[in-house]
Amino acid sequence: MSKTRKVGFTETVLRDANQSLIATRLPYSKFEPILETIDKAGYYSAEVWGGATFDVCLRYLQEDPWDRLRKIRAKMPNTKLQMLLRGQNILGYKHYPDDVVRKFVEYSIKNGIDIIRIFDALNDVRNLKVAIEETVKQGGHASGTICFTTSPVHTLEKNVQMVKELKQMGVKSICIKDMAGIMGPKESADLCKAIKDAVPELPLVIHTHCTTGLAFMTCLKGVEAGADVIDTAISPMSGGTAQPATETLAYALRSLGYQVDLDDKVLIKMADFFKGVRADFIKDGTLDPISMATDTQCLNYQIPGGMLSNLISQLKMMNAIDKLDEALAETPKVRADLGYPPLVTPTSQMVGSQAVQNVLAGERYKVVGKEIKAYCRGEYGRTPAPIDPAIQKKILGDTPVVKGRFADGLEPEFDKTKKELGATAKCDEDVLSYIAFPQVAMAFFKDREAGFPKKDAPMKAAGAASPAAPKASDLPPMPAWQGHVYYANVPASASNGVTARPIQPFAASYQPPHLVMSARDNCPGTYTITIDGKAYAVSVAAADGPAPTAAAPVAAAPVMAAPAPAAVSAPAPAAAPAPAAAPAAAPAAGETAVNSPMPGNVFKVECKPGQAVKAGDVLVILEAMKMEIEVTAPVDGTVKSVAAAVGTAVNTDDLLVTLG
Ligand code: CO
Repeated sequence: MSKTRKVGFTETVLRDANQSLIATRLPYSKFEPILETIDKAGYYSAEVWGGATFDVCLRYLQEDPWDRLRKIRAKMPNTKLQMLLRGQNILGYKHYPDDVVRKFVEYSIKNGIDIIRIFDALNDVRNLKVAIEETVKQGGHASGTICFTTSPVHTLEKNVQMVKELKQMGVKSICIKDMAGIMGPKESADLCKAIKDAVPELPLVIHTHCTTGLAFMTCLKGVEAGADVIDTAISPMSGGTAQPATETLAYALRSLGYQVDLDDKVLIKMADFFKGVRADFIKDGTLDPISMATDTQCLNYQIPGGMLSNLISQLKMMNAIDKLDEALAETPKVRADLGYPPLVTPTSQMVGSQAVQNVLAGERYKVVGKEIKAYCRGEYGRTPAPIDPAIQKKILGDTPVVKGRFADGLEPEFDKTKKELGATAKCDEDVLSYIAFPQVAMAFFKDREAGFPKKDAPMKAAGAASPAAPKASDLPPMPAWQGHVYYANVPASASNGVTARPIQPFAASYQPPHLVMSARDNCPGTYTITIDGKAYAVSVAAADGPAPTAAAPVAAAPVMAAPAPAAVSAPAPAAAPAPAAAPAAAPAAGETAVNSPMPGNVFKVECKPGQAVKAGDVLVILEAMKMEIEVTAPVDGTVKSVAAAVGTAVNTDDLLVTLG
C-alpha cells in the first residue's frame, strides 16, 4: 500500500449481535453501565436500534424503544448512532404508506439516530426511495444497502447499477449486507472492488455474520478491495450467528498496515463487561451454545443456515424427512421460478416452504401459500428477474398484478391513527409504535398505564411474569427476522418448562401465513367462498354428478385458514407415532369422501356425524408446515362419518370426513 488507509468499525453488540445471539433480550438496564465506555472507543458508528430491538422492547422488555434510544443518545454523545430500517417495511414485512415511513425516519433522527441503514429484501430501490429521501431531508446519514445474494442475475454489473441509483437518491455510504454469512472472501473482494470503482467517493461498509466461518476472511478481502468500514462485535458477543470480533479484526488490520482508530484499553473494558453479560445469558438459557458455533452445512447447499434447518424441521414435522434431497433440489428451482429473490426473511421462508409443498404435493405449485401469491402479484416489489410466466399464471389465475410500487396504492395512515388512538398515545412516537406493532404496542401502553407487571428476572421474558393480566410479554412470539437464528420465548406451560430456545423461522417465530390451495386436478371449478366475512376465490373440486364414481372420489376443496395461533400451541405430534388415518376408501353411491389435501396433523375437527353442512363449511383443520389449513365441504350435505381424529397424522388423500 502506498499510504496507510483507515478502516472504520461499526460496533453491533447492542443491536445485531444482541439480536443474533440472544434474540435481542438485552435490557437497557443491563448495558447502561457500559455506554459511556463504548462512547470512548473510537467507533465509526454503533448500531444500537432498529431491526428487532423495537419489537422486543415493547413485547418482552417493558421498555419504550424510543426512550431507550434517547437514553443511549444521552450517554453516547460522541459516537454516531446507527439503526437498521427495512425501507418501506420500516421494521416489519408489511408495506407502510409513505407518510408513516417519513414520520418514522423523522422521529428516529429526532430521538438520536445519526445513520440509517436502509435495505429492501428484494433490492427494489423503489422501496428504499422514500426512507432515503426523508433521512437526507432530516439531516441524517442514509446508508444505501445491498442485500447480498448469488444468482445468475445478480451480477457485478447489476449491483453496480443499484449502487449508482442509490447514490442518485442521496445516500452517504453503501453497505453490503450479507445477512446469512454466505458471502465468501472472493465474492467480497470482487463486489467491493466493483462498487469502489463505481462510486469511490462513498464509504463502503461490509456487514456479514460468522455463521459459516467465512466472516473474518470476507471482511479482510473486502477491506483489501476498498471497503472502508466493517461491522464487528466486541469479542464476548461475537462469532457464531453474530459478527466477527472487533478486537481480532482491529489487531489483524493494524498488523497489515491499516489505520484503526480504536482504543484497545477501552475495548478490554468492554470485553470484560460483556463477558459477564454473556455468562448471565448462558446461565439462564437465552444464549444457546449452538448459536456460537460455526455451521458450514449451508455452504454445501448454497442456502442460508436458517433456511436449511427450516426445511429439515418442516419435513420432519410431516414425517417426510426422506424427501430432504428432493426438497433441496427443488429449492433452487423454486427460487429461479420466482425470479431469484435474495434469500432473506421473508423470501427465504417462502421459497423453502414452497419447495417442500411442491415435493410433498407431488405436483409443483398445486399448493401455494398466501405470501407466494402476494409475491407473484408484485406486493413485495420488483423481483430481480421476471417470475416464470407460466408459474405466475398458475398461481395467480386472473388475479391482476400490481403495477408500479405497492405503497403507491396505500392511503396515508399517521394522522388517522393518531386520531383513533386519542389519549392512548402520549406522543407521536407512541403512534408510530402502534402503527408498527399494533397489538404489541397496545398491550405495552396498557401495561405502562397500570405500572408494569413485576418480572421475576430482568432477562427472562415471555412466560416469566405473573399470569394475572394479559401483558405485552404474553403476546405471541415475534416474527422471524432477517435470516438470523430465531428464538421464541415460550410460556413454560407450553413447552417443557423451557423459557427460551432456538427455533427455526417456520416454527414459533414465523407468523403463520394463510394458505390458499388449488383444486384437486380431477375436478376443476372456480368458486367464491366466504369465510369470516372474507370472500376467497378458490378452485373447488366440483362434484360432477350426484354419485361420484369410486375411481374418482370427490375431494375436499381446501381453502385458507385464519392465522394459526403461535406455533408453540399447535399440537405436538402425538407422543406415540400417530397411526395414519384410514386410507381413502371408495365412497358409496351418494357419498362424498373428503380427503386430506396434504400430509399434516389433524388440529381440529369442526363437524360431527349427522350435522348438516354447506359447501365451503370447515370440516377439519389440519396443521401442516406451521400453518392451519382448513379442509372444507366440497358440496352441501350431511356428515356421515368422521375419520379424522385430533392429533393424528394424515397423509395426502387419507379420508377425513364422509358426507352423505
Ligand atoms: Co445482520
